[in-house]
Amino acid sequence: MAELERTFVAVKPDGVQRGLVGEVISRFETRGLKLVGLKMLKVTPALAEKHYGEHKGKPFYEGLVNFITSGPVVAMVWEGKNAIALSRNVIGATNPGSAAPGTIRGDLCVDIGRNVVHGSDGPESAVREVSIFFHDGEILKEWGRNVDSWVCE
Ligand code: RTP
Ligand code: MG
Repeated sequence: MAELERTFVAVKPDGVQRGLVGEVISRFETRGLKLVGLKMLKVTPALAEKHYGEHKGKPFYEGLVNFITSGPVVAMVWEGKNAIALSRNVIGATNPGSAAPGTIRGDLCVDIGRNVVHGSDGPESAVREVSIFFHDGEILKEWGRNVDSWVCE
């Protein structure tokens, strides 16, 4: 049985501007994941560099930093069994042109530079990204959700 994981998800500035915050949250909720952290913030250039440091030097890096700092984002921590891979499946392929229908990017986006949502791509990045955006005390640990036994065996 896969262990309980936490992952970092953010609605990017395009998703906030387009009024898709509720839609994005709904996709994770209805999939069965549990929301344990939520805040709205403006990403500073320093925070963007920390978060997207792995892409520094790539041709799209400057545009990516300009974009992610261009307006408010909604930062979230989602928890559940296999939460990291599950969230990536809910989000869909990086390029919306290749993202499957039924995924957020496959249903709601057109351009790779306007792909509405971010999700951690593995256990190390999940831990790193959660700690970049949230203090430990801001994450609600072990709140009991009554439907949990109807979501997982
Ligand atoms: P994210 O980190 O935002 O969840 O996206 P991802 O894992 O699916 O993709 P990643 O490779 O981490 O890329 C981060 C973001 O950079 C932009 N990008 N543009 N023009 C390009 O070739 C290109 N490649 C990546 C995308 O906005 C992508 O979400
Ligand atoms: Mg990524």
